[in-house]
Amino acid sequence: MITIDFTNMMATAVDNGVTEAEWRDAAAGFQRVWEGVGKLRTSGEIGFIDLPADDGLLRQATDFAARVRGKYDDIVLLGIGGSALGPIALRTALCHSGWNGLSGAERGGYPRLHVLENVDPVTIGALFERLDFKRALFVVTSKSGGTAETMSQFLIAHERVMQAKLPVAEHFVFVTDPKQGALRPLAAELGVPALDIPPNVGGRYSVLTPVGTLPAALLGVDVKALLAGAGAMAKRCETATFAENPAGVVGTLLYLSDVAHGRVIDVLMPYSDQLRDFSAWFVQLWAESLGKHRPDGSSVGSTPLPALGATDQHSQAQLFMEGPANKVVTFVAVVEHGADVVIPKGFEKVTELAYLGGHSLGELINIEQRAVAGALAKRGRVNMTLHIDRVDAWHVGGLMMLLEIATAYAGQLYGVDAFNQPGVELGKQFAYALLGRPGAEKAKAEWETLPKPDARWQVGG
Ligand code: PA5
Repeated sequence: MITIDFTNMMATAVDNGVTEAEWRDAAAGFQRVWEGVGKLRTSGEIGFIDLPADDGLLRQATDFAARVRGKYDDIVLLGIGGSALGPIALRTALCHSGWNGLSGAERGGYPRLHVLENVDPVTIGALFERLDFKRALFVVTSKSGGTAETMSQFLIAHERVMQAKLPVAEHFVFVTDPKQGALRPLAAELGVPALDIPPNVGGRYSVLTPVGTLPAALLGVDVKALLAGAGAMAKRCETATFAENPAGVVGTLLYLSDVAHGRVIDVLMPYSDQLRDFSAWFVQLWAESLGKHRPDGSSVGSTPLPALGATDQHSQAQLFMEGPANKVVTFVAVVEHGADVVIPKGFEKVTELAYLGGHSLGELINIEQRAVAGALAKRGRVNMTLHIDRVDAWHVGGLMMLLEIATAYAGQLYGVDAFNQPGVELGKQFAYALLGRPGAEKAKAEWETLPKPDARWQVGG
């Protein structure tokens, strides 16, 4: 079960919260938002909501994983952005804690997963130094099939596999668009298997395609349950009745809090180590989807910020409590943690220790979440809590779908296209120009017009 308690978002509980009049207006206007996303869906422009029903696509991942079971000790995922953050979030949430450090037997014979989500030579160099290439599978994930970082990682890995005289077709699998990009023809040329990312599913909405389901299936995650949870949430979000649509409520509250109440920062703070990387996945989803120019040229979008409870109670929470009241904190609280540890009684005469004995860590982490939510509300800081029964594939799939649809609704509310990312283009073009990629001559010329580093504004030593 996934429930949302947004009492502390409302003016009835917290100063400068969402008012009942705003709530009523939002409910009245929700039909337009709901229809906007519905139209994109039925026209086929966006496909992520229909992924849970795509058995064929899921089978691509599960069949491949079944076929190679036991063949590899290490899966190395090459990808960046939406091609990396989803797989990382799934591994952290759904595999045993410390997965890559466990022995093969402890992992149930499933491989380790390394996600190279960057082009830092130190990280890649260190991994490749100790990797047994004979027992490694490289999963090259790129929707566009041309991203510079991923293609560089591929070139390096490909050369190393060739140097080791290993068959390329046995050590690579591509996950990419069925038609577009450089990876498709390369797959055909090299005899490398290639799995699909549907054309109408963009990077940050792709975790329920083989982008996420392939690595998860290779690691033994119950990907059917992941999609079932996502499907159940998509179904709950089919209603145009605002107050019954979980994504409608979350997307609208975050939007209203930003534009009407100056809550310009959206903190996602799960109280579970398993969901630590889930926040990073959400940050990309929200930021890249909504931080945009409107058609009239104005800039919109609230800033997502990852946090982790209880750890960040001793870090960012001070800012949340007493810094500017410009944030919404969305907690994720887990009813039942996968394991629990009872805190032993002892040192009964030491006040700081005595009251803890007899409680469990699960109890402590949950009580701390409730305490911080209450404290924030008391100080006029709005917050809401997404309650999930447990961190398993079904609930993680549901949460992912909830936040994806909420983001799509927020795109309608802000009046931006939540599915493109034109803002990253200029930086890419400049990098192409500096690397000498053909076709980047215009960007090169524009680069030359930038102010040169000015000695007056530098400090060295
Ligand atoms: O969400 C997005 O579309 C982006 O963040 C992409 O995931 C990222 O740029 C990587 O792109 P690609 O999968 O085409 O290599």
